[in-house]
Amino acid sequence: MTLEYNYPSVAATDFKSDTVTTPTPAMLKAMLTATHGDDVYKEDKTTNDLQERVAVMTGKPAGLFVVSGTMGNQLCLRAHLKQPPYSILCDYRAHVYTHEAAGLAVLSQAMVTPVHPSNGVYLTAEDVAKYLILGNDIHTAPTKVISLENTLGGTIMPIEEIAKISELARRHDLIVHLDGARIWNASAETGVSLSEYGKYFDSMSLCLSKGVGAPVGTVIVGEVEFIETCNWFRKQTGGGIRQAGLLAAAADVAITDHFPHKLKETHQVTQKLAHDLAQLGITFQLPVQTNFIFLDLSKAGISASTLVDEGKKLGITIMGSRIAIHHQITNDSIEKLKLAVKNSIEFARQQRSIGNGHKKPIEGSLAYGIYDKL
Ligand SMILES: Cc1ncc(COP(=O)(O)O)c(C=O)c1O
Repeated sequence: MTLEYNYPSVAATDFKSDTVTTPTPAMLKAMLTATHGDDVYKEDKTTNDLQERVAVMTGKPAGLFVVSGTMGNQLCLRAHLKQPPYSILCDYRAHVYTHEAAGLAVLSQAMVTPVHPSNGVYLTAEDVAKYLILGNDIHTAPTKVISLENTLGGTIMPIEEIAKISELARRHDLIVHLDGARIWNASAETGVSLSEYGKYFDSMSLCLSKGVGAPVGTVIVGEVEFIETCNWFRKQTGGGIRQAGLLAAAADVAITDHFPHKLKETHQVTQKLAHDLAQLGITFQLPVQTNFIFLDLSKAGISASTLVDEGKKLGITIMGSRIAIHHQITNDSIEKLKLAVKNSIEFARQQRSIGNGHKKPIEGSLAYGIYDKL
């Protein structure tokens, strides 16, 4: 049998997200030889192997394959939390808080303490300590979990700071969870191993469908009993996949083929692009450290819709101020992106000169401004 691979990928022109990558020929090939056991009965070898692989990589006793990053985070947090009232402390931009459809309120009945990092980029132990809710005052919802995200907005939380926050949590008998949707990127960039990160967390959720490039899947890791509880909740939320091996096989190849070198390459491409955009006078909302660039469109006087339209004219997809680089973006698309930004700057200049410049640019739609959408 010959396979017709749809390659190069349709994602080659898409800067929306690193989730848009399509399965590579190697992934499709691996799916053909995956085992076909029923994973709800834990009988699928390919899935079991992937779970074990990620557990070993992160230094944890057990892993569980789930369909998405949202499911991974929500199952972990639900499994950690036993009896309300309680709170989860996280960055005010954290995906678990802002982009998971109120899962913490609905599934875990949790209050959230959203904290603004004092340095504008990542939470410090001092930031966290200031907002912990401790003690047994019956008016409060005590902090039970500190949930960190790395990378967040493409920025890396330094391992030293993670260690301090973890130490603080342990001193107060609190749980620490990691939304590691892109911990692969942090690890590839810093050289800090996943198992080194793992030391500081009780649970981690590692997405395989973001930069790593699998079509579907996240693996959550933690203690054996904890993962058993997560599996229970996975079933309850309809997340039991029967022949999961097909998906696990693709995810396994994604790790092998893309972590860490391919990710590191995408970071280099991102750095070069940021440098070239800076030459055009563009500034950024956040430091560029991995595979995301958050353009400061307001400062450049460009509306998000102008940039989106200029991209469309050139045949590339841009969502707004957030530019995501992934392994299937081509050099040609990068050149088109730069041109779209250049044309947007020129359009904004013309608008100002004919008196339309008073219109406030439409910036990122959410209150905190850094994400236009998912
Ligand atoms: C940091 C972070 N965590 C979790 C998720 C959720 O992943 P999913 O879209 O697979 O539910 C995302 C999605 O983009 C994310 O960016």
